[in-house]
Formats: sequence, structure tokens, C-alpha cells
Amino acid sequence: MSLRPPSEERHIAPMRTESFRRGRPDLVGPEHPEPPFPILLSGEVQRGFGRGGKDLGCPTANLPHESILPMSTVTETGVYYGYAQVSREKDGEIVLPEGDARVLPMVMSLGWNPFYKNKILTAEIHIMHDFPTDFYGHEVKAIVLGYIRPELDYTSREGLIEDIETDKRVALKSLARPAYEKFKTDSFFDISNHPRL
Ligand SMILES: Cc1cc2nc3c(=O)[nH]c(=O)nc-3n(C[C@H](O)[C@H](O)[C@H](O)COP(=O)(O)O)c2cc1C
Repeated sequence: MSLRPPSEERHIAPMRTESFRRGRPDLVGPEHPEPPFPILLSGEVQRGFGRGGKDLGCPTANLPHESILPMSTVTETGVYYGYAQVSREKDGEIVLPEGDARVLPMVMSLGWNPFYKNKILTAEIHIMHDFPTDFYGHEVKAIVLGYIRPELDYTSREGLIEDIETDKRVALKSLARPAYEKFKTDSFFDISNHPRL
């Protein structure tokens, strides 16, 4: 798979079209992850602009710039899928219940968020789980396993929300293949948080 790293400059993203929406497949990527995947990322969750949860109904964990480099130096901007895990501890104290620190499916956006016209490249992970609280300041680990689609610009917030919902369905279906599912128990994750795995 050939995915060119993004330049340091924001580019003009294509506008999402009706034919793109209608033509979206519900399963993406080969039967086994292929290079550059898997890509391993980790970092402390930062505050973004807070629009993910408020505007889009899709809270995201923003990674610090240096944590993005293993990905942004080898892949292009876009939407990706994989697994992620949030640490139970914050500032040395266990604050998150065990169930919230499992390895969970995620969708991730790497890009300039053209709909919001961001000035810096960001990587944001949406973990498909209902967390009772935010987890700013927690360590997050992620294994990125595949590419879903390019980042797009939108004429309405509803269009972006609709595509993110489709991204989540595509990610769940694409991860439900043995060669992807096995990364849930990868030693990169903190398995001590998962006595029942
Ligand atoms: C799965 C997923 C797909 C996304 N796709 C796009 C996209 O195509 N275009 C875009 O402008 N932003 C996209 N975003 C980024 C959102 O605009 C961003 O998460 C939102 O602005 C929240 O950012 P904030 O936490 O910094 O407020 C996507 C986010 C996710 C989680």
C-alpha cells in the first residue's frame, strides 16, 4: 500500500460528494494488515478544541505532536482504524475503572480537519466505548491497522457526522477479521489491565 506522508503545509482537501457517500464500502483493507501497518503510537492525551464531543457527538483523544511522528512520517492524512487503550492512572493514581482500560476498537483522524480549518496537523482518536469521564492527562496507546478514507471538507456538520458514523461501522467490520483481532492481545498493550483476556 502506498501512502505518502503529509507535507508540513495544509493542503486543500476535496469536498465530500454525494457519489463518494453512496460508494463507500463497508469493509476496507486486505485480509492481513500490510506495511506500513501496524503502526504503534503512544502519548499523553491533550485537550483539543473540544468540538469532537460537543459539535460532532464524537469525543476524541488528541495526541501530542511528537507522538504522531511514527505515523505522520510514513502515511498520508486520512481516517484510520485500529485498537486503543487508555491507562487507568493519572498523576500516579488509579482513577479509571478496569473496564474502561480495556483494549478497544478505535477510529482515528490524522490531518488538518479541513472542515474546521486547523493550522496544525493533529491526530485524534475516537475510542468506541462509552467513557463516564474524559481522560485528559492519561496515557493512551494505539495500534493503527488500516486506512479507511481521505480527510474531506464538508458543506455541513451533518455530512461530517454521517461520515464519522460510517467510519465507525467500517472500522468494526474491518477489525472483525482474525488477523486484525489478534492485535487486541498484543504485548504493546498493558495486559495487566486485562485479567480476563
Ligand atoms: C473518525 C473521524 C473522522 C474524521 N474525518 C474528518 C474529515 O474528513 N474532515 C475533517 O475536517 N475533520 C474530520 N475529523 C476531525 C474532526 O473535525 C475533529 O475530530 C473535531 O474537529 C474535534 O477536534 P477537537 O478535539 O480538536 O475539537 C474526523 C474525526 C474522526 C474521529
